[in-house]
Order: sequence, then structure tokens, then C-alpha cells
Amino acid sequence: MNQINLHFLVTHAKHYGFIYPSSEIYGGISSIYDYGPYGLELKKNIQKYWWKSMIQLHDNIVGLDSSILMHNAVWKASGHIEKFNDLSIDNKDSKKRYSPEILIKEFLLKTDQKNRKKFLERLNKYLLNNNLSDIESLIKELNIFDPISGSKNWTNIHLFNMMFKMNERQGGFFLRPETAQGIFTNFNNVKKSMRMKIPFGIAQVGKSFRNEIIARQFIFRMREFEQMELQFFISPKEEKKWYNYWKKLRLQWHLELNLGNNKYKMIEQNKLAHYASYGTDIKFNFPFGLKEIEGIHCRRDFDLKKHEFFSKKKFRVFKESKQDYNYIPYVIETSLGLDRILLAIYSSSLKLEKIQPPNGGSSNNRIVLKIPYYLSPIKAAIFPLVSKQGLPEIAKKIFNDIKIDYKLIYDAKSSIGKLYRRQDAIGTPICFTVDYDTIHNNTVTMRDRDTMQQKRIPIASISHILREKISMKKILKKLLYFSSNIGS
Ligand code: GAP
Repeated sequence: MNQINLHFLVTHAKHYGFIYPSSEIYGGISSIYDYGPYGLELKKNIQKYWWKSMIQLHDNIVGLDSSILMHNAVWKASGHIEKFNDLSIDNKDSKKRYSPEILIKEFLLKTDQKNRKKFLERLNKYLLNNNLSDIESLIKELNIFDPISGSKNWTNIHLFNMMFKMNERQGGFFLRPETAQGIFTNFNNVKKSMRMKIPFGIAQVGKSFRNEIIARQFIFRMREFEQMELQFFISPKEEKKWYNYWKKLRLQWHLELNLGNNKYKMIEQNKLAHYASYGTDIKFNFPFGLKEIEGIHCRRDFDLKKHEFFSKKKFRVFKESKQDYNYIPYVIETSLGLDRILLAIYSSSLKLEKIQPPNGGSSNNRIVLKIPYYLSPIKAAIFPLVSKQGLPEIAKKIFNDIKIDYKLIYDAKSSIGKLYRRQDAIGTPICFTVDYDTIHNNTVTMRDRDTMQQKRIPIASISHILREKISMKKILKKLLYFSSNIGS
């Protein structure tokens, strides 16, 4: 069984209707992508898994859908105008902008192992200390040239704000770089209208925008992307307890996807965002290496305190017990990129398999997307073996009877072998084929995506089988059990 490389994945994504380059007819734009019909279904199913695990499994978490455009004062208060910056360096001849970190790292890939390690250690130290002149010296010392123009005519390294700003005629608004601020600014609204008491959480899924200098590796780093974020408001006295709870639960959420426990690593962050007191990254082994997929941060009262100061409104929690005092709640945040988790699931589930026909003929390959059944874009496919003798009518009737409950496909456009291959490639867990025997005994052939095994089952049992195999219930139950035992 073969793990797929990124090029294969990008080609598959376009060919089978998962992800297309945006504005492709005009040459596309770097790092912006559109989700096709199957990519969208997959994304919605992942979102459903996250949403249910937050909102349904926790009585003290509610949802929110706040606007993308917000008052500009929000970004002043949150520190994003001043501090949400990335380092950049321009080549004066090609006019191309680079991230100094990536420029140096990519250059070092061409040098020998021993020197690479030495230079990388120096680079990491300079980055950690924000030592810009030392990074510039390193570029000079290594004689790094622009990969496009070949020129060494560099500007100084400067800070580059990552927020997109609309022009004044459009109101001069910023496009939000995180969904979290809509949660903070609605803290009082939600608390009051929903009668929430500490500890409680507000969860949100939505688009965020960042003017990334280096945007590559397909949908890993984009300029427009989606985040699934939770802000969990707590008493400062319980900071450690809830930080540990969310670290454990978020990792378990990933592990339940069954992509391979060895693919994940939890790493304490050493370079913190301006709002975080400390944090942990959940990293995942993508085809291009171990990379961040989710961040769990302790933001303490950074945001609510700043909003109190700038808005002159109170974000206080009043005495609820004799031991308690009036305070601004602390916040534990969990922030997962929807596109990144989709890429993780997609890249680790797409396989190229050698198959041996049962009759002993020569082997051939099949592409199969072995995603968890409950996430698959299409839950089952129904085919007639041939387009005659009333078989399409029976297959269509089965399809129409169950399509109200599940996203299904009816297909009669090719031979049965080709129909199976197409469903394997888009990850459909089960195929039902109506054949000549169906006419006599009301049974169909059921074929499983992963084992490719076939067996006959009564038409009357299809709904029940689908319910058993496709449901998200089992995994949610496990997660609920896990969460109720954290810390015990
Ligand atoms: N509110 C906290 C926050 O935004 P972050 O670590 O900057 O924290 C959280 O981002 C998650 O959002 C990341 O772990 C990643 O999954 C996703 N993300 C961030 N930038 C992204 C980008 N340019 N493209 C795709 N996903 C991104």
C-alpha cells in the first residue's frame, strides 16, 4: 500500500471534484482554492464532528456566528494592528517578497547535513530573539540569492502586517485574521442572553484571512481559510485544570479519527502569539513534514481586559460564591484550521493499492480514499448491473427511498468495475448493486470499500446497515466517555 505524495493529491483533488484552484481560467491566484462538490461535503462532515463534540457533548458550550467585518477598534484593542506581523525581505530586482526564515531554510536544504544543522541552530536563535540584523547577516554570509532573478540585492528585513485592509471607500475595514475576536466582543451578550455561568465556552466556525507571505503546500497555508475555534471562559484559579482538560480532549478528538496515533505530536510552543501566556501545538505528519494543525492557548484575560480598556464596557464576572471574587475571566482557546484538518484526513487516507483479481489475472492498481465512513462525502452508491430488464427502475426506487436520510449516488453510466473504482476514489464506504437475482429474491450485492468483500443482503436491511456503519454516534460516545474521565 502506498502513501500518496502531494502532487498526486492535488491532481486527485481536482480530478474528482474535491478542490480546485481559484479563478483557474485566469491563471489562478497563489494559495487560494475553491472546494468542489465532494470537498465541500467532506468539509461539512468534519465541521459536524467538531461542532457536535463541542456543542452537543458540553452543556456549557454554545455556538456563535459573528461577522467577518468588525469595528476597527477591535483590532486596535486586540493588538493585531500593532503586533500581528511577519518578517519579510524583498529582492530589489525581482520585486519578490520572501519570508527570511523560509528563504534561508530552503537555501540550506542544498547544503551538507553538518553545516545545515549549525546554521539552522543560529537561525532559530535569531528568530526566537527577533534579532533582525543577525538574520540579515546570515543571508549575506550564506550568499543567498533570489531564486527568480539570481540577484543578491536585498532590502532590510522588515515587519509586515498580516491583516488584509479594505480601502477607505469600502470603509477601511480589516478582514478578520481569527474568529476569536467576535467571541470576545459578544462575551456579555452571550453570557446574559444564554444565562451562562463560569466555566463556559463559545464555539465558532468561520472564515479568517491572512496576507501570508509564503503561502504554499496546497491548502495548508492559505490567504482565505476557515477556523473552528473555542474560547472557554474560566476562573483564573482553575487555569491549569482547564488547560490540561482541553489539551487532552483535543488530542483525543484527533486520535478518534484513526489516522494513526504516531502521526501526531504535542509540542509546547516556544514562540508565542502576542495574546498568549503559553500554549501547545498539536502537530501532524503531513506528506511535507510535521506541521501545526491546532493551537491550544492560554490567553488569560488579555483580550477581555483590552476590550474593557478600549470600549469602556465591563467584562466582569460577579461573585457566585463566598470564596469567589469579581474578576475578568481567563480564557483557554482551542483553534483548529478546518482546511488543515481536511488536508490531514485527505492526505493520510488517499492510497494507491495493488489489487489481485480473484480469478488470478494480472494485478492492477486502485485509488482508494479510506476516510472514516462517517466523514465520506457520499455514504453509499446504488447501481443497476445492466441498464435493462427493469434493473435501473429497482435501483432508482431503492435510491429514492433512502436518499432523504443520506447523501447517496445513483449511477448507471459505466460498467460495474468502473463504477466501483470511481466510488473507491471518492471514499464511498458501501456500494449496492441490483442484479438479476434482485428480481427474484429482493436482495442486492453489498460491497465494502476497504475490504472489497461482497455479500448479498435483503433490500429491506439497507437502511439499518447504513445507520450502523455510517453513524458518528459511536465515536461521539467514546469522546463523551473520555471527557467525563479526564482528571479522574
Ligand atoms: N485564534 C488563535 C489563532 O488564530 P493560530 O495558531 O494563528 O491561532 C490557529 O491559528 C489555526 O488556524 C492553526 O493551527 C491552523 O490550523 C489554522 N491556520 C492558521 N493560519 C492558516 C493559514 N494561513 N491557512 C490555513 N490554516 C491556517
